[in-house]
Amino acid sequence: MHTLFKHQLLVLSLIWLSIGVFAQKQNVIRPGDIWPDEDGKHIQAHGGGIIKIGKTYYWYGEERSKGLDTNYRYVSCYSSKDLMNWKFRGDVVKMSDPENLGRRWVLERPKVFYNKRTKKYVMYFHLDNSTYKFARVGIAVSDKPDGQFTYVKSFRPLGHESRDIGQFIDDDGTAYLVFEDRPFGFRIARLADDYMDVEKEMTLVKAHMEGGAIVHYQGLYYSIGSALTGWKANPNKYSTAPTLEGPWTEFKDIAPPETNTYGSQSTMLIKVVGKKTTTIIFMADVWKPGTQWDSRYIWMPLKIGEGKLWVPEPKPWTLNIKTGEWKYVQENAGEQKKNN
Ligand code: DGJ
Repeated sequence: MHTLFKHQLLVLSLIWLSIGVFAQKQNVIRPGDIWPDEDGKHIQAHGGGIIKIGKTYYWYGEERSKGLDTNYRYVSCYSSKDLMNWKFRGDVVKMSDPENLGRRWVLERPKVFYNKRTKKYVMYFHLDNSTYKFARVGIAVSDKPDGQFTYVKSFRPLGHESRDIGQFIDDDGTAYLVFEDRPFGFRIARLADDYMDVEKEMTLVKAHMEGGAIVHYQGLYYSIGSALTGWKANPNKYSTAPTLEGPWTEFKDIAPPETNTYGSQSTMLIKVVGKKTTTIIFMADVWKPGTQWDSRYIWMPLKIGEGKLWVPEPKPWTLNIKTGEWKYVQENAGEQKKNN
């Protein structure tokens, strides 16, 4: 073969290889922007939940892509080792109305718990009719993290109304469901041994809040939630307690109130325990009710400690999953425009 031709071929293959291997690699989280998965498609995992199995994180959420069959509700699953690059593992739920709830029935805020004893992945979700009066949780189960999940049942946890749900797994592995029980407030309750039921109420926090999330950090429990304003953002707030049973302090702002939590609503608090430090990530949804497929995410590392919690102004940042450290990333204007 001619040397020049050989050289061109080599250069071409190198370019091809680097596009294939590195094209979608991203070491930046850009709060509020389009978040491409490893195939370059905006992540569809709204109102989601994250669990870690071994070294892999799984992100489940509401799949709201444009053009889905409106008879079904879908839950997606993504996996990642670094919380920045996510691989789409498929829609692990494709469900038709399981309880005769009517045309505009609702499946929201799916959360998956892995039960070590039964080796089952147990998904909880908010199941409702179009007027949000059914107010129950639904459960679906799978043998694998990436599905398929099979519908099992729906119920009101401990007999109470349940709308937005949140999941909390304590440092000792105990699993809890956080659920909004209007008009009383929100409850934190422990799951049964096999996770197929809600067994014991830990507390009723008498605050009218949804999007509830909890983290255990340096000996204190922090709970955050949003006000009840539908899809519209509002100033989310936090409270702390020495035990899950309380007593819970008064709720305080987590961000400048005039920003309405930077246009987002709380969903979960992710605890990343690294070799050097622990970072708590505020995971929130930026809802776009008219174009839900374009809803975005705000993930920001929290300033947290000694009873205080604050979400810094959202800007691009990067995480070192091994050390647990994070830092802001300076980006040029081109990079910013591409993802808006
Ligand atoms: C706010 C909730 O947090 C969302 O999950 C969703 O239920 C909307 N309300 C519906 O208006």
